[in-house]
Amino acid sequence: MTDLLPDETRKWQALEQIIRREAAKFHFEEIRTPVLEPTELIVRGLGQLTDIVSKEIFAFQRGDTNYVLRPEMTAPVARSYVEHRLDQRGGTQKLYYIGPMFRAERPQKGRQRQFHQFGLEVIGSADPIADIEVISFMVHIYQTIGIRNTRLRINSVGDLQSREAYKKTLKAYLKPHLPSMSELSRTRFEKNPMRILDSKEPEDQPVIEQAPLIGDSLSESSREHFNMVKKLLDDLGIDFEEDPYLVRGMDYYTETAFELISPDLGAQDALAGGGRYDLLIEEIGGEPTPAVGFAAGMERLLIACDELGIELDPGKSLDLYIVTMGGSAREWAVPVLQQVRGMGLSATMDYQGRSLKAQMKDANRAAANYTLIVGDHELARNRFTFRDMGASEEESLSLDEILERMQKLIGEGRTQDKA
Ligand code: HAM
Repeated sequence: MTDLLPDETRKWQALEQIIRREAAKFHFEEIRTPVLEPTELIVRGLGQLTDIVSKEIFAFQRGDTNYVLRPEMTAPVARSYVEHRLDQRGGTQKLYYIGPMFRAERPQKGRQRQFHQFGLEVIGSADPIADIEVISFMVHIYQTIGIRNTRLRINSVGDLQSREAYKKTLKAYLKPHLPSMSELSRTRFEKNPMRILDSKEPEDQPVIEQAPLIGDSLSESSREHFNMVKKLLDDLGIDFEEDPYLVRGMDYYTETAFELISPDLGAQDALAGGGRYDLLIEEIGGEPTPAVGFAAGMERLLIACDELGIELDPGKSLDLYIVTMGGSAREWAVPVLQQVRGMGLSATMDYQGRSLKAQMKDANRAAANYTLIVGDHELARNRFTFRDMGASEEESLSLDEILERMQKLIGEGRTQDKA
């Protein structure tokens, strides 16, 4: 788990701003849910035999209730949808989120135990258009930021009927191989044979490579759905590869599943992933409700930016630094700061009574555009030194003249108003 220090949070804020702006364009609304969820929800939602639930959960107990730190947002958003009857708002719910998630994985580059995701969940539509809006938002974010070297992989994991048919075929294929397979795969065989395809155990790999694929067991309607998704991707000019081996890390997926990969990331190369989960809401106690979504790792997005030399950090900026000499000047400056801030500008001063030199250094470090220098002499004359730090020019002006000057700078857009 990492601390995000001030020199880093600027790029996080810039990224969050892009996500919020683009989500608004796609007409998504934000949802925020607690960082804790009942263990029961996550186990039911993601699946008992998944790596996340069986190995990676941060869990604890208080009273009679078991909690986990949320490892992802799809199950929490689905819970919230059911609990608050969001269906009654009418139509399809188009929700987005940004926030921390927790998985007790072995940390490495691009993999933390606390990491951040942004994502979308579209709840209440079975139409391939919903899949496409989700995928195109995902692709669009990376395009907007300038991360173009990505690959979209898609697959269909089918509807309930396809999955039941596939499970039979898969079990028939796996059965004779079981004795040579890992213990984990043997436990998965009865309860959830499709999880075996996600196995990382070396002894399972030769068996997995020869396994029948879900694509051959798709029902007519799953096939149609998948074909329409691919057609719409073509229509939008979004490149993709079909990957018949793509099974995702949670059990709730049905129909479309996808991942966005970046060759700039190394071992942890998944920038984002998602898919349809038409059975989840019913599974956790709601009415049958189709849904689709994706989530993206924000640390990984920022690593890709670094690798590609993309600068999200808008840089530090400060409109005015008031440099004070002496106690009266310091007292005078306090209400002036408020006045300047009231005009929509950023302003600060020294809080420690340091030397002129130290304050000028501080103003430079803060990337101040202007400094106002005030001491007893300036106060007596109501003339202050107003210094343009970029141009290294200064003038002697009254406070009114300085404020007027700054007002004019706002009008010309010459100050760095990042608000
Ligand atoms: P996921 O594939 O588990 O899907 O996670 C989505 C993204 O989160 C990954 O592609 C990766 O970028 C990032 N991520 C996951 N684990 C870590 C980690 N330990 N450290 C850093 N980044 C990580 C989901 O979470 C689903 N809820 C997506 C979804 C939404 N499906 C439907 N709707």
